[in-house]
Formats: sequence, structure tokens, C-alpha cells
Amino acid sequence: MANTDIGIDLGTSNIRMTMGNKGVVLSEPSVIAYNTRTDRILAVGKEAYEMIGKNPEYIAVVKPISDGVISDDDLAHSMIREFILKVTGHQLLKPRIVICVPSFITEIESRAVVEAARSAGSRQVYLIQEPIAAMIGAGVNISKARGHMIVDIGGGTTDVAIVSMNGVVTSHSIKTAGNTIDRSIIKYIQNKYKLLIGERTAERVKIELCNLYDPSDETTVPVKGRSLLKGLPAQIDFSETELFEAIEDDTFAIMEAIRKVLEDAPPELVGDIYDNGLILTGGGSLLGGLTQLIKRTLGINCNIAKDAINCVAKGTGMAFDKTTTLLDGFEHAPVSQYK
Ligand SMILES: Nc1ncnc2c1ncn2[C@@H]1O[C@H](COP(=O)(O)OP(=O)(O)OP(=O)(O)O)[C@@H](O)[C@H]1O
Ligand SMILES: [Mg+2]
Repeated sequence: MANTDIGIDLGTSNIRMTMGNKGVVLSEPSVIAYNTRTDRILAVGKEAYEMIGKNPEYIAVVKPISDGVISDDDLAHSMIREFILKVTGHQLLKPRIVICVPSFITEIESRAVVEAARSAGSRQVYLIQEPIAAMIGAGVNISKARGHMIVDIGGGTTDVAIVSMNGVVTSHSIKTAGNTIDRSIIKYIQNKYKLLIGERTAERVKIELCNLYDPSDETTVPVKGRSLLKGLPAQIDFSETELFEAIEDDTFAIMEAIRKVLEDAPPELVGDIYDNGLILTGGGSLLGGLTQLIKRTLGINCNIAKDAINCVAKGTGMAFDKTTTLLDGFEHAPVSQYK
């Protein structure tokens, strides 16, 4: 691996980059802000995220990645270019880039990702399937004829896959993930308390209060918003039990996605997973009580990967050393096509 090699995890909520052997060198929200009158880029990442919900009309704050794929080509290209310039210290290095993509990505979508990397000056672009990257990043040896299961819960999608012999055997992806959970919290509080709260408040409540295993009425956090009845600022106390109720359907959908992959997988591999347990990655894996809930609902052991939030990015960066053994992970964009 060369020092200038860049690995990119292009997430719906966050973009993470690795460089050479340095590991993750950038982790910022996948957000870009620009002036709609002049088209000038005003900010990317954390700085743009801070502007969400606080911007005047002529400033657009956009998330150009939806459900793990590029939804706005030009803005995604600009955002990626800005981040690459940031990690390379504004030097023109023409790096090799590995980008991870969801396992269900279409040819057109993967082409958009490759174009984004090329427009940022890359001389060679590789794609790797996200579940494979997550496994490598979690330190699992996936080269053997043994089944391993990964559940990556991000902002836009929950991806479940069984991997064996460096390839994805069965996978399933749903659009229920961190963002859906935030929206469910907003809706619940709006219906029950007639209180309107913002996305960032909902996310904070989720992170601080979530208990999917044994929620209680007594543990609460204060939540501030605007009363829909009076139009004025108001505050409520919101409990673990209420949060559990608000996101119960989303949690159920995640459990069903895992169940589906287990049902579709060849029985030999399911046996391996019963022995190995499943591995959780992504920001959503940190939902309080999730591992215990999976064990109780599905009867399989489950561990959160070390540094779960950075696993996919780390694995993406580490893939430079494995380009020959990981052919299955690159199958959606024939490498030679983009050299
Ligand atoms: N401690 C936590 N508890 C619960 N959720 C969390 C926690 N920390 C982060 N999250 C959630 O994780 C999500 C972001 O995770 P991640 O960065 O893995 O997503 P992503 O890779 O950008 O998205 P995707 O993989 O779907 O494209 C957000 O919804 C965030 O609210
Ligand atoms: Mg992700």
C-alpha cells in the first residue's frame, strides 16, 4: 500500500477516509452547503452540518448521498473533492482510491461513485462491497470456507450479509436505519405531545436514551421543541419506554432483515453463524440494548465490532493489500474498466 492510497466509506450520514497506513484520517458528516445564487460551495462536513435547519433561504444545505448511493452527482463530486484535498493537504497526489459500495448497487450507481473518485483526481479506482469491507475492518478472516454474518446499521441503510471465502453468499438491505429511527422519534413526539423537534434533537435523544432491552419509565431526558398548539418553545420529559415505543417498528424491521438472511442462507453456513455469532458495525450498532435484543429475539450471539463506526472505512483502506484475493468484492466494477 502506498502512502497516498485513499480508502473511502461514502456513508449516508458520514464520510470517512483512510490514507496509507495511517488508518482513518477524516470522519465528517456527508453534508455540503452552497450559495444557490452564485453556486459557490460554502462549507462541507461538520461545518455544513452545523448549518442544517439554521440556513437562510439562499443557502442550500444538502446531503448528496442517500441510502448509501450518490443522489446528486455534482454536489457529491464537489464534496468528495473537498475532502480529498483536505486529507492530502491540498497537494495534487493523484491517489489510488478504494471506495466501498452497498452490495445491491446498480451498474449506473457504481459508475457514479467511480466518476466521483476520478473527478477528484484519482488515477485508479477500485470498488469493494461494503459487507466485505466491514468484515476486514472488524478483523475477521473471511478467506476460509466458513460463514460469518455482518449487520451494518448506518444512517440510511441496514445491510445484512453472510460472507464466506471472500464473497457475499446472501445479503439483504433495508432502508430502516439511524435516520428512519430519528424520524420515528420526531413523529411520535409530534403526535403524543404536539411538540415539533428537529432532526438533531431526535438523534441526540436516541443516542442518550435508547434502551431496547429493558426500558424503564423512570429514566428520562428533557426534550425541547416548538409547541404546535401555542407556537412557542416548550419542553417535555421523554422516557426510555416512550422511546422504545416510538422506534419499535424500526427495530422489528431490523430483526426481520437479519431473520430473512438466516432463512435464505445455506444450512451449513447457518450452523457456522450459530457458533460464531454475528458482528454488528456502523453507528446504529451502538443503539442501547441492541445486542441483548438480538440474542433474545433470534437466539444468536452478537458482538459489536471494535471501533464499530470506523470498521467499514478501515476495511476499505486495508483492501489495497488484498486486491487479488478479494475479486468477488470488486465484481460490480471490473477493475480493468476503470484503470
Ligand atoms: N451511540 C449511538 N447510538 C445510536 N445511534 C448512533 C450512535 N452513534 C451514532 N449513531 C447513529 O449512527 C448513524 C450513522 O452511522 P454511520 O456513520 O455508520 O452511517 P453511514 O455509514 O453514514 O450510513 P450508511 O452506511 O447507511 O450509508 C446515525 O443515524 C447516528 O445517529
Ligand atoms: Mg456505512
